[in-house]
Amino acid sequence: MATTRAPEDAYTAEPFVPDGADLTALRRAAAGCRGCPLHRAATRTVFGAGSADARVMLVGEQPGDQEDRQGKPFVGPAGKLLDRALAEAGLDPAEAYVTNAVKHFKFTRAAPGKRRIHKAPSLREMTACGPWLAAELALVEPELIVVLGATAGKALLGPAFRVGEVRGTVLEREIHGRPERLVPTVHPSSVLRADDREQAYQGLVADLGVAVQALG
Ligand code: URA
Ligand code: SF4
Repeated sequence: MATTRAPEDAYTAEPFVPDGADLTALRRAAAGCRGCPLHRAATRTVFGAGSADARVMLVGEQPGDQEDRQGKPFVGPAGKLLDRALAEAGLDPAEAYVTNAVKHFKFTRAAPGKRRIHKAPSLREMTACGPWLAAELALVEPELIVVLGATAGKALLGPAFRVGEVRGTVLEREIHGRPERLVPTVHPSSVLRADDREQAYQGLVADLGVAVQALG
């Protein structure tokens, strides 16, 4: 008997990404993505938000509990901290395009019915979701990408990425003949978990300041 392979067994969003789509069409298509198993337990796809004309793209890890409920990236505690840090660094959060390396919330529960606890996405899930991020980058063509933490770094710069080695610096490369500049920094959630929150927060603001400088 022939077995039917579920699309998520292929671990790629590729078949779900429409050719020649604008951001609205891309977002609509992503809502139905089954490119990896993460869509099963999560509530919805959390696609990027912001204008196709944005000069800056912020890339996080994956939606959290609040993002999964509301369907928008960075609307929970980490997002609130990020908005504050961006404003302090001189960047209007409303002008950035904000997205994540992985578009579904991955979580575990301590017990059935208990609160959902964030679980880091695997390299396989990050790779599967990569076509959505690539399509967003191709449409928005941001002048600068702010890389928020290790997952975004691995998704954009490869598995050898270490945030501590490159945070607060401007990385330059060419992608399909187009120059691309990236400024990595820590993930805002790591600031919330830090022993010295104030110091960690100031570090984030300083890195974002490098991004603002680079934009001119
Ligand atoms: N953390 C992320 O990386 N992204 C979100 O959208 C929210 C929290
Ligand atoms: Fe598709 Fe990404 Fe969701 Fe996996 S995490 S189902 S690849 S949108």
